[in-house]
Amino acid sequence: MQTRTIGIIGLGTVGSGTLQVLFNNSKEIQRRIGHKLVVKLIAVKNINKKRNVDLNGVRLTENPYDIIDDPEIDIVVELVGGEGTTYEYLLRAVRNGKHIVTANKDLIANRGNELFKLAREASVQIGFEAAVAGGIPVIKAIREGLSANHVHSIIGIVNGTSNFILTGMKNESKSFNEMLDIAQKLGYAEADPAFDIQGIDAAHKITILASIAFGIPMNYERVYHSGIDTIDYDDVLYAEELGFAVKPLAIAKRTDSGIELRVHPCLVPASSIIASVSGVMNAVLINGDLAGETLLYGAGAGDLPTASAVVADIVDIARNMNADPSTRVPHSAFQPDSIADLPITAMGEISTANYLRMHAVNRAGVLAEVTRIFGQYDISIESILQKGTGKFEEVLPVVIVTQTTKEKNMNQALQELEALDTVVGSINRIRIETFS
Ligand code: HSE
Repeated sequence: MQTRTIGIIGLGTVGSGTLQVLFNNSKEIQRRIGHKLVVKLIAVKNINKKRNVDLNGVRLTENPYDIIDDPEIDIVVELVGGEGTTYEYLLRAVRNGKHIVTANKDLIANRGNELFKLAREASVQIGFEAAVAGGIPVIKAIREGLSANHVHSIIGIVNGTSNFILTGMKNESKSFNEMLDIAQKLGYAEADPAFDIQGIDAAHKITILASIAFGIPMNYERVYHSGIDTIDYDDVLYAEELGFAVKPLAIAKRTDSGIELRVHPCLVPASSIIASVSGVMNAVLINGDLAGETLLYGAGAGDLPTASAVVADIVDIARNMNADPSTRVPHSAFQPDSIADLPITAMGEISTANYLRMHAVNRAGVLAEVTRIFGQYDISIESILQKGTGKFEEVLPVVIVTQTTKEKNMNQALQELEALDTVVGSINRIRIETFS
């Protein structure tokens, strides 16, 4: 039986999970690929650190180049994250003819275009299933299972930490910070949790999904993103009252004017499937012209789910190592000379309905002023909810739901509304996604 030799860079949450899976499920994996997988070396920051994972005798090194330059190693598994130095590791590994498996969404979203080109030139494979939605095989599904489809849209919850925080705020009445703290302790959050709560992590992931779904280059710089750090507990409550749930969505949509690429919290109908995706769970809804809607649901973060995706890539690579490179599935799903640089729709040109929460002085004529501004920007109101006791001159929360409105009109109206003397502080806007 042939052997495929692996070196792992990084032994954090996902690295430890991967090692565990490679040992514990080795027989099952071997039955599938017909090769033996051997982990030869693992690179870590501190060789003396006490670890909870059983190394089964695998040697540690503090120098990743011991792996990258080792002629016996076939597959380099990169699980350290980050861009600068890590990119240098991958470049050298590719040039040394190593196949790569990575969970590094940041690196693939930002440097994937050039990395894939170099990998093609070196005839090596790069697996990045673990970069998006943890244990859900979403890349495989889009790239292979749905390859006959013209994809219309991908709408997903792809940041488990954000979903975990919003779910805890709603179901357990816990504060934002309490939930973030738990997510960090459970190993869900990024090293810098700002990536989670500001929508950056989800923007990396939707960049990757859009690239393989539409056959476009990785366009991370063109993705609009805002995070769940703007959501208040009140928004979660009012949304529920209005028949919605607040969810952190990543959206890639093909429209007549181009591709929409955006990440932001959304109100979704409480009756929608996406509304029931709770905790750290992820879900990706793919709409294609043939299959219609396909929903993939599963664990989006955590050691073993992510390791499941990492090891699946190792299995694929081990199987295809001796195959003619021209017959392998292209990294970005489409043949490199067929990648189309489709226009990305400017955020101001998209249209959504909106939820607005403002604080307004309770005085005759205030709502008339508000609706005058809406009229001026062609914004139609679906419903208005005024909270509080209704005392004269009291500042009360007012929640307005608009009908579908062009983003740039909404932005201008918000500016004018916030400038009114009778509107106190800033207005919280959450876009609404109805999946229609
Ligand atoms: N921080 C990420 C999340 C981990 O919460 O989804 C998985 O990519």
